[in-house]
Amino acid sequence: MTTKDAPKVLTKYPNTRYMGSKRKLIPTIAQVVKQLDPKSALDAFAGSGCVAYLFKEMGLEVTSNDFLKFSYHIANASIANSKTKLTDKDIDFLINTKSGGHNFIQTKFKDLYFSDEDNAFLDNLWWNINLLKDEHKKSLAFAAVSRACIKRRPRGMFTYTGFRYDDGRKDLTRSLKEHFLLAAKEWNETVFDNGTLCSASNTDVFDLKDKDYDLVYIDPPYVSNHSDNDYTRRYHFVEGFISYWQDDEIQEHTKTKKIVSHPSRFSSKTTIHKAFDDLFGQFPNSTLLISYSSNSIPTKEEMIKNVGETP
Ligand SMILES: C[S@@+](CC[C@H](N)C(=O)[O-])C[C@H]1O[C@@H](n2cnc3c(N)ncnc32)[C@H](O)[C@@H]1O
Repeated sequence: MTTKDAPKVLTKYPNTRYMGSKRKLIPTIAQVVKQLDPKSALDAFAGSGCVAYLFKEMGLEVTSNDFLKFSYHIANASIANSKTKLTDKDIDFLINTKSGGHNFIQTKFKDLYFSDEDNAFLDNLWWNINLLKDEHKKSLAFAAVSRACIKRRPRGMFTYTGFRYDDGRKDLTRSLKEHFLLAAKEWNETVFDNGTLCSASNTDVFDLKDKDYDLVYIDPPYVSNHSDNDYTRRYHFVEGFISYWQDDEIQEHTKTKKIVSHPSRFSSKTTIHKAFDDLFGQFPNSTLLISYSSNSIPTKEEMIKNVGETP
Protein backbone atom coordinates (compact mmCIF):
# COMPACT_ATOMS: atom_id res chain seq x y z
CA MET A 1 0.00 0.00 0.00
CA THR A 2 1.50 3.39 -0.98
CA THR A 3 1.10 6.49 1.23
CA LYS A 4 -1.33 7.81 -1.38
CA ASP A 5 -3.66 4.80 -0.95
CA ALA A 6 -3.20 4.54 2.83
CA PRO A 7 -6.28 5.33 4.90
CA LYS A 8 -6.29 8.90 6.23
CA VAL A 9 -6.11 7.43 9.71
CA LEU A 10 -2.52 6.38 8.99
CA THR A 11 -1.43 9.68 7.50
CA LYS A 12 -3.56 12.27 9.30
CA TYR A 13 -4.64 10.79 12.60
CA PRO A 14 -2.17 11.65 15.40
CA ASN A 15 -0.13 8.63 16.40
CA THR A 16 -0.47 8.52 20.16
CA ARG A 17 1.55 5.44 21.20
CA TYR A 18 -1.54 4.56 23.23
CA MET A 19 -1.14 1.26 25.09
CA GLY A 20 -2.76 -1.48 22.97
CA SER A 21 -3.39 0.84 20.02
CA LYS A 22 -4.44 -1.02 16.87
CA ARG A 23 -2.85 1.50 14.54
CA LYS A 24 -0.55 -1.15 13.08
CA LEU A 25 -3.54 -3.42 12.39
CA ILE A 26 -5.52 -0.74 10.54
CA PRO A 27 -4.97 -2.23 7.04
CA THR A 28 -6.10 -5.68 8.26
CA ILE A 29 -9.13 -4.30 10.10
CA ALA A 30 -10.05 -2.23 7.03
CA GLN A 31 -9.93 -5.33 4.86
CA VAL A 32 -12.16 -7.37 7.19
CA VAL A 33 -14.69 -4.55 7.63
CA LYS A 34 -14.87 -3.94 3.88
CA GLN A 35 -15.96 -7.56 3.39
CA LEU A 36 -18.62 -7.27 6.10
CA ASP A 37 -19.96 -4.05 4.52
CA PRO A 38 -21.69 -2.64 7.63
CA LYS A 39 -23.51 0.70 7.68
CA SER A 40 -23.12 1.40 11.38
CA ALA A 41 -20.49 0.48 13.96
CA LEU A 42 -19.73 0.75 17.65
CA ASP A 43 -16.10 0.92 18.77
CA ALA A 44 -16.84 -0.17 22.33
CA PHE A 45 -13.30 0.32 23.77
CA ALA A 46 -12.04 3.12 21.56
CA GLY A 47 -8.82 4.15 23.40
CA SER A 48 -6.81 6.29 20.99
CA GLY A 49 -9.80 6.36 18.63
CA CYS A 50 -7.84 5.23 15.56
CA VAL A 51 -10.18 2.32 14.74
CA ALA A 52 -13.31 4.45 15.18
CA TYR A 53 -11.68 7.02 12.89
CA LEU A 54 -11.03 4.33 10.28
CA PHE A 55 -14.73 3.38 10.46
CA LYS A 56 -15.67 7.04 10.02
CA GLU A 57 -13.39 7.25 7.03
CA MET A 58 -15.08 4.15 5.57
CA GLY A 59 -18.38 6.06 5.69
CA LEU A 60 -19.97 4.23 8.63
CA GLU A 61 -22.23 5.82 11.21
CA VAL A 62 -19.84 5.39 14.14
CA THR A 63 -20.32 5.47 17.89
CA SER A 64 -17.04 5.62 19.79
CA ASN A 65 -17.04 4.65 23.46
CA ASP A 66 -14.47 4.44 26.24
CA PHE A 67 -14.82 4.87 30.00
CA LEU A 68 -11.82 7.23 30.16
CA LYS A 69 -12.71 10.89 29.84
CA PHE A 70 -9.67 11.91 27.84
CA SER A 71 -10.38 9.17 25.32
CA TYR A 72 -13.96 10.46 25.08
CA HIS A 73 -12.70 13.97 24.27
CA ILE A 74 -10.43 12.60 21.56
CA ALA A 75 -13.45 10.89 19.99
CA ASN A 76 -15.74 13.87 20.46
CA ALA A 77 -13.13 16.06 18.75
CA SER A 78 -12.32 13.82 15.81
CA ILE A 79 -15.22 11.38 15.32
CA ALA A 80 -18.42 13.03 16.55
CA ASN A 81 -17.25 16.41 15.30
CA SER A 82 -17.81 16.94 11.59
CA LYS A 83 -16.95 20.60 11.09
CA THR A 84 -15.77 22.60 14.12
CA LYS A 85 -12.11 23.59 14.43
CA LEU A 86 -10.11 25.66 16.89
CA THR A 87 -9.44 29.03 15.23
CA ASP A 88 -6.23 31.02 15.73
CA LYS A 89 -8.28 33.32 17.96
CA ASP A 90 -9.43 30.36 20.12
CA ILE A 91 -5.85 29.14 20.49
CA ASP A 92 -4.61 32.62 21.36
CA PHE A 93 -7.38 32.84 23.98
CA LEU A 94 -6.48 29.42 25.41
CA ILE A 95 -2.78 30.04 25.86
CA ASN A 96 -2.67 33.76 26.58
CA THR A 97 -5.65 34.53 28.83
CA LYS A 98 -4.62 34.72 32.47
CA SER A 99 -7.10 32.65 34.44
CA GLY A 100 -6.41 34.15 37.86
CA GLY A 101 -3.81 32.40 39.96
CA HIS A 102 -4.98 28.78 40.06
CA ASN A 103 -2.09 26.61 41.20
CA PHE A 104 -3.40 23.12 41.99
CA ILE A 105 -1.13 21.37 39.50
CA GLN A 106 1.87 23.53 40.42
CA THR A 107 1.61 22.45 44.04
CA LYS A 108 0.19 18.91 43.92
CA PHE A 109 2.41 17.68 41.08
CA LYS A 110 5.53 19.79 41.70
CA ASP A 111 8.66 17.95 40.46
CA LEU A 112 6.66 14.82 39.61
CA TYR A 113 6.11 15.00 35.85
CA PHE A 114 6.73 18.44 34.36
CA SER A 115 8.67 21.65 35.00
CA ASP A 116 7.17 24.47 37.09
CA GLU A 117 6.62 26.44 33.89
CA ASP A 118 4.75 23.55 32.24
CA ASN A 119 2.64 23.02 35.37
CA ALA A 120 1.71 26.71 35.44
CA PHE A 121 0.75 26.47 31.76
CA LEU A 122 -1.58 23.55 32.56
CA ASP A 123 -3.17 25.30 35.57
CA ASN A 124 -4.00 28.27 33.41
CA LEU A 125 -5.10 26.25 30.39
CA TRP A 126 -7.71 24.17 32.20
CA TRP A 127 -9.68 27.23 33.28
CA ASN A 128 -9.52 28.72 29.80
CA ILE A 129 -10.69 25.50 28.13
CA ASN A 130 -13.73 25.56 30.35
CA LEU A 131 -14.60 29.05 29.20
CA LEU A 132 -15.02 27.78 25.63
CA LYS A 133 -18.72 27.54 24.82
CA ASP A 134 -18.60 25.00 22.01
CA GLU A 135 -18.36 21.36 23.19
CA HIS A 136 -16.39 20.25 20.14
CA LYS A 137 -13.87 23.06 20.64
CA LYS A 138 -13.53 22.04 24.27
CA SER A 139 -12.87 18.46 23.20
CA LEU A 140 -10.32 19.56 20.59
CA ALA A 141 -8.49 21.48 23.33
CA PHE A 142 -8.66 18.53 25.76
CA ALA A 143 -7.46 16.17 23.02
CA ALA A 144 -4.56 18.55 22.33
CA VAL A 145 -3.52 18.91 25.95
CA SER A 146 -3.76 15.12 26.50
CA ARG A 147 -1.51 14.54 23.50
CA ALA A 148 0.87 17.27 24.68
CA CYS A 149 1.23 15.73 28.16
CA ILE A 150 1.73 12.19 26.83
CA LYS A 151 4.30 13.29 24.23
CA ARG A 152 6.21 15.42 26.73
CA ARG A 153 6.50 12.50 29.10
CA PRO A 154 9.34 9.99 28.58
CA ARG A 155 7.70 6.67 27.58
CA GLY A 156 4.35 8.45 27.39
CA MET A 157 3.10 7.38 30.83
CA PHE A 158 2.58 8.46 34.43
CA THR A 159 3.39 5.30 36.35
CA TYR A 160 6.71 6.70 37.60
CA THR A 161 7.79 10.13 38.80
CA GLY A 162 10.78 12.27 37.92
CA PHE A 163 12.56 12.63 34.64
CA ARG A 164 14.41 9.37 34.08
CA TYR A 165 14.23 7.76 30.63
CA ASP A 166 14.90 11.20 29.12
CA ASP A 167 16.80 10.11 26.00
CA GLY A 168 17.06 13.62 24.54
CA ARG A 169 14.35 13.02 21.91
CA LYS A 170 13.05 16.24 20.40
CA ASP A 171 9.64 15.67 22.04
CA LEU A 172 11.35 15.88 25.43
CA THR A 173 12.99 19.22 24.70
CA ARG A 174 9.74 20.98 23.74
CA SER A 175 7.65 22.81 26.34
CA LEU A 176 4.07 21.72 26.97
CA LYS A 177 2.91 24.91 25.31
CA GLU A 178 4.81 24.04 22.13
CA HIS A 179 3.37 20.53 22.19
CA PHE A 180 -0.13 21.92 22.73
CA LEU A 181 0.17 24.24 19.74
CA LEU A 182 1.33 21.40 17.50
CA ALA A 183 -1.32 19.01 18.79
CA ALA A 184 -4.15 21.55 18.36
CA LYS A 185 -3.18 21.84 14.70
CA GLU A 186 -3.02 18.07 14.30
CA TRP A 187 -6.45 17.46 15.84
CA ASN A 188 -7.93 20.28 13.74
CA GLU A 189 -6.74 18.43 10.66
CA THR A 190 -8.62 15.28 11.61
CA VAL A 191 -12.02 17.01 11.43
CA PHE A 192 -14.23 16.01 8.50
CA ASP A 193 -17.82 15.12 7.68
CA ASN A 194 -18.52 11.58 6.44
CA GLY A 195 -22.17 12.34 5.80
CA THR A 196 -23.49 10.35 8.78
CA LEU A 197 -24.21 11.29 12.38
CA CYS A 198 -21.25 9.94 14.35
CA SER A 199 -21.15 10.16 18.14
CA ALA A 200 -18.90 9.74 21.15
CA SER A 201 -19.84 8.21 24.47
CA ASN A 202 -18.08 7.96 27.82
CA THR A 203 -19.37 5.05 29.83
CA ASP A 204 -18.60 1.57 31.04
CA VAL A 205 -19.40 -0.71 28.12
CA PHE A 206 -22.13 -2.45 30.16
CA ASP A 207 -23.93 0.86 30.67
CA LEU A 208 -24.20 1.57 26.96
CA LYS A 209 -27.74 2.02 25.79
CA ASP A 210 -28.20 -0.95 23.50
CA LYS A 211 -28.65 -0.11 19.88
CA ASP A 212 -28.61 -2.26 16.80
CA TYR A 213 -25.16 -1.65 15.38
CA ASP A 214 -24.31 -3.67 12.27
CA LEU A 215 -20.80 -4.09 13.64
CA VAL A 216 -19.42 -3.98 17.18
CA TYR A 217 -15.65 -3.75 17.48
CA ILE A 218 -14.42 -5.18 20.77
CA ASP A 219 -10.87 -4.43 21.89
CA PRO A 220 -10.79 -4.59 25.70
CA PRO A 221 -7.71 -4.64 27.94
CA TYR A 222 -5.97 -8.02 27.92
CA VAL A 223 -5.84 -10.17 31.02
CA SER A 224 -2.54 -12.00 31.33
CA ASN A 225 -0.05 -12.80 34.05
CA HIS A 226 2.48 -10.36 32.65
CA SER A 227 1.09 -7.26 30.98
CA ASP A 228 -0.13 -4.01 32.48
CA ASN A 229 -3.82 -3.52 31.69
CA ASP A 230 -4.75 -0.66 34.00
CA TYR A 231 -5.35 2.27 31.69
CA THR A 232 -6.32 4.68 34.48
CA ARG A 233 -3.06 4.02 36.31
CA ARG A 234 -0.97 4.54 33.18
CA TYR A 235 -2.69 7.76 32.13
CA HIS A 236 -3.99 9.03 35.51
CA PHE A 237 -2.52 12.51 35.10
CA VAL A 238 -4.33 13.31 31.83
CA GLU A 239 -7.51 11.62 33.06
CA GLY A 240 -7.44 13.69 36.27
CA PHE A 241 -6.70 16.87 34.32
CA ILE A 242 -9.97 16.63 32.35
CA SER A 243 -12.03 17.36 35.48
CA TYR A 244 -9.16 19.17 37.27
CA TRP A 245 -9.28 16.21 39.67
CA GLN A 246 -12.81 17.13 40.78
CA ASP A 247 -14.38 13.85 39.58
CA ASP A 248 -11.55 11.63 40.77
CA GLU A 249 -10.09 10.76 44.13
CA ILE A 250 -6.32 11.16 44.35
CA GLN A 251 -4.60 8.39 46.31
CA GLU A 252 -2.60 10.73 48.50
CA HIS A 253 -0.33 8.04 49.90
CA THR A 254 1.09 7.24 46.46
CA LYS A 255 4.25 8.86 45.13
CA THR A 256 2.62 9.31 41.72
CA LYS A 257 -0.53 10.95 43.21
CA LYS A 258 -2.57 8.70 40.96
CA ILE A 259 -6.35 8.65 40.99
CA VAL A 260 -8.39 5.60 41.95
CA SER A 261 -8.61 3.35 38.90
CA HIS A 262 -11.94 2.92 37.14
CA PRO A 263 -12.96 -0.67 37.85
CA SER A 264 -13.25 -2.79 34.71
CA ARG A 265 -14.54 -6.34 34.53
CA PHE A 266 -12.04 -6.80 31.70
CA SER A 267 -9.00 -6.35 33.95
CA SER A 268 -8.97 -9.42 36.12
CA LYS A 269 -8.85 -13.19 35.78
CA THR A 270 -11.78 -13.59 38.13
CA THR A 271 -14.23 -11.41 36.17
CA ILE A 272 -13.09 -11.67 32.56
CA HIS A 273 -14.96 -14.84 31.47
CA LYS A 274 -18.36 -13.62 32.63
CA ALA A 275 -17.60 -10.15 31.26
CA PHE A 276 -17.10 -11.57 27.76
CA ASP A 277 -20.21 -13.76 28.07
CA ASP A 278 -22.30 -10.75 29.05
CA LEU A 279 -20.80 -8.54 26.37
CA PHE A 280 -21.46 -11.09 23.63
CA GLY A 281 -25.06 -11.32 24.84
CA GLN A 282 -25.43 -7.54 24.81
CA PHE A 283 -25.31 -7.26 21.01
CA PRO A 284 -27.23 -10.30 19.71
CA ASN A 285 -27.98 -8.78 16.30
CA SER A 286 -24.54 -7.38 15.54
CA THR A 287 -21.48 -8.85 13.91
CA LEU A 288 -18.76 -8.86 16.56
CA LEU A 289 -15.19 -8.13 15.53
CA ILE A 290 -12.78 -8.89 18.36
CA SER A 291 -9.10 -8.07 18.87
CA TYR A 292 -7.53 -10.00 21.69
CA SER A 293 -4.06 -11.19 22.52
CA SER A 294 -3.56 -14.89 21.79
CA ASN A 295 -1.63 -15.57 25.00
CA SER A 296 -4.22 -13.98 27.29
CA ILE A 297 -7.20 -15.17 29.29
CA PRO A 298 -9.58 -16.41 27.92
CA THR A 299 -7.84 -18.24 25.10
CA LYS A 300 -9.04 -17.97 21.51
CA GLU A 301 -10.60 -21.47 21.74
CA GLU A 302 -12.51 -20.62 24.92
CA MET A 303 -13.76 -17.42 23.38
CA ILE A 304 -15.02 -19.05 20.19
CA LYS A 305 -16.80 -21.69 22.25
CA ASN A 306 -18.45 -19.00 24.37
CA VAL A 307 -19.66 -16.96 21.39
CA GLY A 308 -21.21 -20.13 20.00
CA GLU A 309 -23.08 -20.71 23.25
CA THR A 310 -24.40 -17.16 23.65
CA PRO A 311 -28.15 -17.22 22.97
C1 LIG B 1 -6.85 -2.19 24.23
S1 LIG B 1 -7.42 -0.57 24.61
C2 LIG B 1 -8.25 -0.08 23.14
C3 LIG B 1 -7.29 0.38 22.10
C4 LIG B 1 -7.96 0.99 20.88
N1 LIG B 1 -8.67 0.00 20.10
C5 LIG B 1 -6.93 1.69 20.04
O1 LIG B 1 -6.66 1.24 18.91
O2 LIG B 1 -6.37 2.67 20.51
C6 LIG B 1 -8.74 -0.87 25.75
C7 LIG B 1 -9.55 0.35 26.13
O3 LIG B 1 -10.68 -0.12 26.89
C8 LIG B 1 -11.02 0.88 27.84
N2 LIG B 1 -11.86 0.16 28.85
C9 LIG B 1 -11.47 -0.76 29.74
N3 LIG B 1 -12.52 -1.27 30.42
C10 LIG B 1 -13.62 -0.63 29.93
C11 LIG B 1 -15.01 -0.73 30.22
N4 LIG B 1 -15.47 -1.58 31.15
N5 LIG B 1 -15.86 0.05 29.54
C12 LIG B 1 -15.40 0.93 28.60
N6 LIG B 1 -14.09 1.07 28.28
C13 LIG B 1 -13.20 0.29 28.93
C14 LIG B 1 -9.69 1.42 28.31
O4 LIG B 1 -9.83 2.71 28.84
C15 LIG B 1 -8.85 1.37 27.02
O5 LIG B 1 -8.85 2.61 26.38
